[in-house]
Amino acid sequence: MIRYKRLGYIALNVTDVGRSADFYRDIVGLQEISGPLAGCRYLRCSDKHHDIVLYQGATPGLKRLAFELESIDQIGELHSVLDAASVACIELPQSERDAMGTGPGLRTWEPGTGCALDFYVGMNAPAEPPYEHTVAQIQRLGHMVLRSPTFEQTVKFFTGTLNFKVSDSIENRVVFMRCYPNPYHHSLGIGNGTGKEANMNHLNFMVTEVDDIGRAIWRLQKAGSAVVNGPGRHLPSGSMFLYFLDPDGLTVEYSFGMEEFHEHEEARDPRTLPAVPESFDLWLGPVDKRKAAVGAIERSDPATKELAS
Ligand SMILES: [Fe+2]
Repeated sequence: MIRYKRLGYIALNVTDVGRSADFYRDIVGLQEISGPLAGCRYLRCSDKHHDIVLYQGATPGLKRLAFELESIDQIGELHSVLDAASVACIELPQSERDAMGTGPGLRTWEPGTGCALDFYVGMNAPAEPPYEHTVAQIQRLGHMVLRSPTFEQTVKFFTGTLNFKVSDSIENRVVFMRCYPNPYHHSLGIGNGTGKEANMNHLNFMVTEVDDIGRAIWRLQKAGSAVVNGPGRHLPSGSMFLYFLDPDGLTVEYSFGMEEFHEHEEARDPRTLPAVPESFDLWLGPVDKRKAAVGAIERSDPATKELAS
């Protein structure tokens, strides 16, 4: 069974890489670092090489999602389970590893959404000074939520093939999963997009203080970034949340607090919560239509094993 360390990093396509880098640095509170890939901007909220990487692209959205495997032997294991599921994968070429500062790994594509997924072992630390909090006390890159037109199959791919564990679901709407044995309630959510296009719903950063949520409301307003949902509180994870838009209209979330499941403690059973407003937001705040309205998932062709770069 595949074992993970964490959600590794998120690669986004943005239409103006300089404008977006400014936003994620100055308004979200990430640290920009120099990176080897020309035209890209690298930012972090940890001491790892990066937590997000911004690519210049005509269509804003998700370029790929990367998870860090627990150890080198997980690569062979992953290869076996993908082969058994007849899902194509390639080894990460040295050029990609150099560009992302990672060790070896595999790239595959989730069949339903077409989302490129990287799985790697180890990430370099850059030469820059350690990450320091600026406008927000960011604890870590939190999670990504995708909308899948093949909802059940996509959930099954992550749980059955990739060994993610379901923490909770909102009935027929969204499933929250952790990359086992990483303890956080969810590193990935899959929304039910049956009859719709696949898209990126939002990316999340966890903050360490409730004041980070309150302060962000006024900072975002001053910066002209729309708050599209929140502040509120999610019933499944217990997180307090605030959703806002980046310069391309991609939805970003700050969350405070999250349930954890530790490997050596017996995990509670996953719950299936009713699809009522209270399950999404205990505070029942309004949701702006612009929430998750932008965010294409870049599709590359696994048949040709073309790299999505
Ligand atoms: Fe979220």
